[in-house]
Amino acid sequence: MIIYRCRVLDTPDDPFTGGALRAADDAGLAVEDGVIVDRGDFRAVADRRPTAEVVDLRDGVLLPGMVDTHVHYPQIRAIGGLGMPLLDWLDQCALPEECKLADTEYARTVAQEFLTGLTAAGTTTALVFGSHFADAVDALFTEADRVGVRVTAGLVTSDRNLPEPLLSTPERSYDEGRKLAERWHGHRRLRYAVTPRFSYSTSPEMLASGAALIEDVPGLWFTSHVNENPAEIAAVIEQFPGSANYLDTYHRHGLIHERSVLAHNAHPSDSELALMASTGASVAHCPTSNSALASGSFPLRRHLDHGVQVALGTDVGAGSGFSLFKEGLQAYFMQQLLQGDGVPLTAAHLLHLATRAGATALGLDEVGDLSVGREFDAILVRPSAGCPLDVCLRHAESAENALAKIFSLATPNDVVRVWIGGDEVAA
Ligand code: GUN
Ligand code: ZN
Repeated sequence: MIIYRCRVLDTPDDPFTGGALRAADDAGLAVEDGVIVDRGDFRAVADRRPTAEVVDLRDGVLLPGMVDTHVHYPQIRAIGGLGMPLLDWLDQCALPEECKLADTEYARTVAQEFLTGLTAAGTTTALVFGSHFADAVDALFTEADRVGVRVTAGLVTSDRNLPEPLLSTPERSYDEGRKLAERWHGHRRLRYAVTPRFSYSTSPEMLASGAALIEDVPGLWFTSHVNENPAEIAAVIEQFPGSANYLDTYHRHGLIHERSVLAHNAHPSDSELALMASTGASVAHCPTSNSALASGSFPLRRHLDHGVQVALGTDVGAGSGFSLFKEGLQAYFMQQLLQGDGVPLTAAHLLHLATRAGATALGLDEVGDLSVGREFDAILVRPSAGCPLDVCLRHAESAENALAKIFSLATPNDVVRVWIGGDEVAA
């Protein structure tokens, strides 16, 4: 047993429904077999467990591991393609890079780069958009298993409107997906998600084959994109003349439920929001991506008013990096710019969106905050001496203010230690 002595911040109670930041200046977190078994004032915890080893982390701030609910593994090398709207960016930046993962050796290298980027930023759990190539998805799972990251991912499926090497058939996608799901779903910290790229690149038969896989293998997840950009939405509606709206292209195949996570939703109708709320589907809000591609400003207020579960995603490589601190800050900026239509976000909201809300969206009750009973997924933020974050933290007026400074200034360089299920991974 280890007692981590620390300054710790987390959000077990949802700040969107009246909860406040939980902060402790000198806490003890007792961890046994990767699970937090005791928590309280350090002295009290140490007295209760006098033989435990004590690890002193008071030179930094301990936070829950970050949860990224939308990130593309094959796009790490595509980060930084600025100046284009979504469909041009896909054609010119993302898709040519994704074609390269047909080479499994290349994919293995990219998988390593991707998981290093993820964990170095403090992300311990992620819903990952995989590759169109089954062997490349297998490489991602293999590497995620080696590192120990909690990854839900799947084969990306498409059968139209993409470069030819990225296209498949409903039958082949089912067979390859089934093999991957049987190998990886439920294996340690890994799970499988049926992942049509977006309705624009999938026929109804392809969506039906994904639904069949979910029916045949219990407990699979579903993820895709929805309502990202006005031109994309118009193209989808043209492809699916019988559908009431973009979300309905998935819903009519039974793909919208509480194990569904839809990225973006920057331009939803009220009926789509109502359907998401009633089915328990979640939205991955990706603010740096929405800003970089000028996709639109996320209507958080409308999501909250309808009771839709929202979490954060980096959407690498349209998004500008792996840091959920940056996503949180950009989410804050976006709501500020919406003025009266925006939601005024506090640092506690940002931490909640980056941790507990993500865990809830992914149905992972065992992570998301640092309460007794949760697994010890945690990160230590410790800026180097004298840098602006270090100065700011030393002069923070309150825990909430310290957290706001972290969201304003922290980068992956400031994340110096990372634990997943009590195991430390190289940060
Ligand atoms: N829609 C379909 N594919 C993609 C993608 O790779 N990135 C984003 N942001 N949107 C998409
Ligand atoms: Zn995406």
